[in-house]
Amino acid sequence: MRILGIAGSLRRGSHNRRLLRAAGAQLPSGVDLVEWDALAAIPAFNEDEELDPPEVVSDFLAEIESADALLIATPEYNASLPGALKNALDWASRPFPENVLRHKPCAVIGASTGLFGAVWAQAEVRKALKASGAHVLESELPVGLADAAFTEDGALVDPELTARLRDVVGDLVREVGAPVEG
Ligand SMILES: Cc1cc2nc3c(=O)[nH]c(=O)nc-3n(C[C@H](O)[C@H](O)[C@H](O)COP(=O)(O)O)c2cc1C
Repeated sequence: MRILGIAGSLRRGSHNRRLLRAAGAQLPSGVDLVEWDALAAIPAFNEDEELDPPEVVSDFLAEIESADALLIATPEYNASLPGALKNALDWASRPFPENVLRHKPCAVIGASTGLFGAVWAQAEVRKALKASGAHVLESELPVGLADAAFTEDGALVDPELTARLRDVVGDLVREVGAPVEG
């Protein structure tokens, strides 16, 4: 089984990329987390091009299509998701309704340096994914005070958060085998 991991930050040293990797370490054997790293190269969405998108976008859509599930780790920018991530999800949502996100099992986690761990951003990502027809898990994983949340080797310091992260990825893996609704 192959899970495509998307970090919504372009920053070197991103806490959300670290969180994605920490999630990869919690996966059962036989399940791979493949990190997608072309977010910075995705051009602004243009509806005129949605049926013949630029190659970097087609490659992104193909990555989603061939993955069994998506795991998105999002930062929070101004109480919402980062524009670059929203833009990439807008490309993935088209053409609607038969897009690559349709019925795709997705889970959303997030880290921020504030107290609340990007909960608003996670909710916004889930909303955009649901509007695109994805099968979105309700679980969230808010990692607050992210500057102090990780060990030097990238694990989460808090064992309770580690257990919740394991639950989220476990739920996602189970959803891949579950029947599709709607
Ligand atoms: C433009 C901008 C807006 C931000 N707005 C919020 C916010 O609304 N809530 C929050 O908790 N953190 C906010 N932050 C702090 C981010 O959570 C923090 O920079 C985080 O580390 C970004 O994720 P990353 O480490 O994966 O790059 C903001 C940061 C930036 C650069």
